[in-house]
This record gives sequence, C-alpha cells and structure tokens, in this order.
Amino acid sequence: MSPDPLTPYGNRPMVTPIVNAVNYEYSSFEVLRQITDGEIDGYTYHRDDNPTVRAVEHTVAALEGAEDCVICTSGMAACTMVYLTFLRAGDHMIIFHDTYGANYKVSLILERLGVDITWMDADKAGNIGDELRPNTRMIFLESPSNPLCKVIDIQAVRNAADKVGAFVVADNTFATPFHQKPLALGAHLVIHSATKALGGHNDLMAGVIACSKEHYDELWFTRQAIGTTLDPHSAFLLARGLKTFDLRARAMSVSAQAVAEFLEGHPKIPRIFYPGLPGDPGHDTASRQMHGGFGGMMAFDVGDDQEDAKRFIRNLKLIYHAVSLGATETLVCIPFLTTMLYLPPERRTIFGVKENTVRLSLGIEPTASILEDLEQALSNL
Ligand SMILES: Cc1ncc(COP(=O)(O)O)c(C=O)c1O
Repeated sequence: MSPDPLTPYGNRPMVTPIVNAVNYEYSSFEVLRQITDGEIDGYTYHRDDNPTVRAVEHTVAALEGAEDCVICTSGMAACTMVYLTFLRAGDHMIIFHDTYGANYKVSLILERLGVDITWMDADKAGNIGDELRPNTRMIFLESPSNPLCKVIDIQAVRNAADKVGAFVVADNTFATPFHQKPLALGAHLVIHSATKALGGHNDLMAGVIACSKEHYDELWFTRQAIGTTLDPHSAFLLARGLKTFDLRARAMSVSAQAVAEFLEGHPKIPRIFYPGLPGDPGHDTASRQMHGGFGGMMAFDVGDDQEDAKRFIRNLKLIYHAVSLGATETLVCIPFLTTMLYLPPERRTIFGVKENTVRLSLGIEPTASILEDLEQALSNL
C-alpha cells in the first residue's frame, strides 16, 4: 500500500490540511466497497464527504458530547436539512416564535409540503403539552433564543415530547457548547450556526448538526442528495477558530455578565434580557442547564423609541454596528431592522421585540473598554 500522502514519514502536520479535491482515485475495488458501505471514512466525491470537513466534524461532535456530527454550508442549511430529513407531509411541528427569523421563511416552504406548524412563545414553553398532537413529530427550540435570550427548559420539553414520540431539536448557537450541552439535557439533535461563535472571526459560513450515529446516517443522506457539503477552506477556518473557542466563549460571557449588570437599572435602559441576571425570568432554568456563565448574547431596549436606539448605536466608537454574532469583535444591531426585517409586520413584534430593542454580541475586547464605550454612548444620548 502506498504511504499516506498527508503523513508520508509518519509525522503529522500540526494543522488539518485543506484537501481541495472534488474526486478521489480508488486504490482498489475493496476500498471502494468499504467507503460506500460506510466501513471507513474514505472519500469518493466532494458532495459525499471531504477529509477537512470530516476532521472538523469529529472536533465539533466531541464539543457537544455527540456520537457524530454533520457539517454543512450554513446554519439555515443545517435547520433545513433537519426539517427535510425528519418531517413528512401530515406531520406536525412545534416551533417557538423566539427562533432565528429565517426559520419563518423555511416554515412557509414546509407548509407548502404539507407540514402543520404551531408557533409558540418561549414564555409559554411550560404549556407545551397543550399543543402536542398524536402526529407531532418535531419540537424546535433555541435557548437562549435569538434575539430576546429567552430560556427554555430543554429536559421538560423532552419529557413532553416523549409522550408522542416527537424529536427535540435545539439550536445551541446562542449558548454555545462551552455553556450548554443540549444532548445531555434530552435534545435528540443540536444545531449551530457555526458562522457564529464556533468559527468566531466573521470569516466563514457553516452549519452544524450534532447527533447520534443513527441520525448522522440519515442527515448525511440528505446532505449528499442535495449538496450542502461545506467547502474545505471554510472547514479549515472553522477548525482553526475552534482552537480558541473555549478562551473566546469564556471571555465573552465574563464581559456579558459585567455589561448586563451595568445596563440593568440604567436610566436609559428600560428593559434588558440576559439570563445571567438573577431577576431575569430564565435565570433559574439557565442556572440549571448552563454552566461556566450565561453566554455572550443579550438584548435590551434603549430610550423610548427607535431614534434613541439608532442614536445610541451611532455614538458607539469601539463596538461595531453589524449583524451576526459570536465574533471576536463586539457587535450591535437593532433586530427590528435586521433579522426580523423580512417577517410580516405582525410577526416582528409578536413575542416582545420592540423597535428600540438592541441586540449585543460581546467580543473578546477588554471588558473595561466595552463598558467605557457603552457608558459614553448612553451618556451622550
Ligand atoms: C440562532 C441562529 N440560528 C441559525 C442561524 C442561521 O445561521 P446562518 O446565518 O449560518 O445560516 C442564525 C443566524 O444568525 C442564528 O442566530
């Protein structure tokens, strides 16, 4: 057998090589059989699999405590692959209003395909039993949620789901696996927009589904069929970002806690959502299911109206006005004008987002610098 081209002398590169191949030469028909029977992680064609992608899948699976993981082209591709893989016409799905806005768009497609959908407010998650039907096949949640950081008791949702044999899918993008492991709390599948804190540098787009081996096989079938396999360069960037993930997640949550405590009770901040604050409605549940802090995301209202929120953002000097989250830089946006913009008007505010609600994603700058910037921006309102 010819030597492994990546480790020809038994010494391994310190970083995952970017294998930019679409197709692979088979060394024998036996190797082809082993690959196609799934006996080895071999490669035939990029839509099936790629070694750079596969390496980072193993890393993310370990982070989430999962048997395996499927990585794809974006967080929304991950959500859509989960819907397409596990829902059929005639199934019922429960999803919370407090989920990333593009799920609403995908829900319109699912309804066209014959899936019945019930939207719930995360505040009412305790009553989920009332919404269950014999054909409820999936419950889709985010905790903390985007953008209002509402907290859902994942174990309680799983207990309810078991009554009808429904799947629990948790989007863990806001919490990150540093603070929360939904599989250990009862979720069947965990989704991430790896574009966010897992990648962490505003330079890649990717999605993750961490799951059992059995679910991996079903999701892999979907990805292979529809062609949502991540490109190897993005997989490399994700692998590199993950090397500092713990450090970044810790720094973000330390700053978030300090910022939330500063903003709470500030005369220009009438309302704040951060599960690390003891007065937050999600604090007790978050304290049970999150660890090492409460994450780097929060939302708060500024002043009385959207003009106040805009003036506050214009006043910021260090913090960037940009969408996305989980990056090394601290980012701020007005969800009403960004992630919720494409929702029908009545859905934009249905679960508590206001026109002056601001979402803040803490970066890794020194906490004191972030506080100083917020302080001056508010005092100049
Ligand atoms: C919680 C959450 N899930 C999913 C997504 C979609 O991810 P992507 O933009 O990588 O498709 C986002 C994007 O902001 C998000 O915030």
